Amino acid sequence: MNPTFQLFPEAASSTASHLDHLTIYLLIVATTFTVLIFAAVFYFAIKYRRREDHERPVEIEGALPLEILWSVIPFVLMMVMFSWGASVFFEMSRPPDDAMNVYIVGKQWMWKAQHLEGQREINELHVPLGHPVRLTMTSEDVIHSFYMPAFRVKFDVLPGRYTTAWFNPTKPGKYHLFCAEYCGTLHSGMIGWIYVMEPAEYERWLAGGAGGESLAGSGEKLFQFLACANCHRTDKQGRCPNLQGVFGSSVQLTTNQKVTADEAYIRESILNPGAKIVAGYQNIMPSFQGLVTEEELLQLIEYIKSLSNRSQGPSAPGAQPPAASGKQPQQQNR
Ligand code: CUA
Repeated sequence: MNPTFQLFPEAASSTASHLDHLTIYLLIVATTFTVLIFAAVFYFAIKYRRREDHERPVEIEGALPLEILWSVIPFVLMMVMFSWGASVFFEMSRPPDDAMNVYIVGKQWMWKAQHLEGQREINELHVPLGHPVRLTMTSEDVIHSFYMPAFRVKFDVLPGRYTTAWFNPTKPGKYHLFCAEYCGTLHSGMIGWIYVMEPAEYERWLAGGAGGESLAGSGEKLFQFLACANCHRTDKQGRCPNLQGVFGSSVQLTTNQKVTADEAYIRESILNPGAKIVAGYQNIMPSFQGLVTEEELLQLIEYIKSLSNRSQGPSAPGAQPPAASGKQPQQQNR
């Protein structure tokens, strides 16, 4: 196709064609009915125009077959839209269990990507071909939107919250990354590139640009540095909950509610510990709001995740990246 005029951007992810086909269906339905309705308006306006001053229209009692027809046809078309749209929506909002996790932090005016192995990137993201990538995203300041047209991924990146998106790149190459939410003066400059690499090449890149320490490793240091371990002791004698195996588990609160210990829960428990108190414990933990950056929060979360992986093996949720040794990632169960 002529690259200067494209109706759709290049399709380079597993979901792109599904979304495109749905969009084409919506366009066809909308166009067909717009044309039909306008044609009918003009046709009837001419056919039933008043020809004489004293002309009286004939009264009509209604037409059941016609009414059934114009109810059933739109109903069927709408139900197709609904079920098709829902299935594409669910596909796009459920990352596969074996997706590798990458953290994205947006700030005025750059995108920071953080791989679990420790590699950091700015305005660039390297991913392996044919492997699903799950993005966990947050912002340090205002609302941004992480937009990769070729993968049909566009998701708001919000301060104080994690949003997730995923894609499975199906074509090697270099693709645009944009910010799609006006976020200040240099919003238009908040752009970058996604590099989709052959898996072997990706492993080399991952090993070559070694940022040294894994994300969980940095998190462990920070955990010690902030003296979290004084209370969160692994021998269960601490004044705060033991964090082994917490990630992904169901936590009983003092309010008798149960919550799943996911990224958002861990984050909230660090910044606003009083929000959800674990049953059997006191509200004694100080808030770390303003003391840890978004990136440090991600490190702590990864460290707490790694505690679960260690104690529970591959049954813990949260995705493993392809190991640097070139092993295939384990299939994980939820
Ligand atoms: Cu960030 Cu626009």
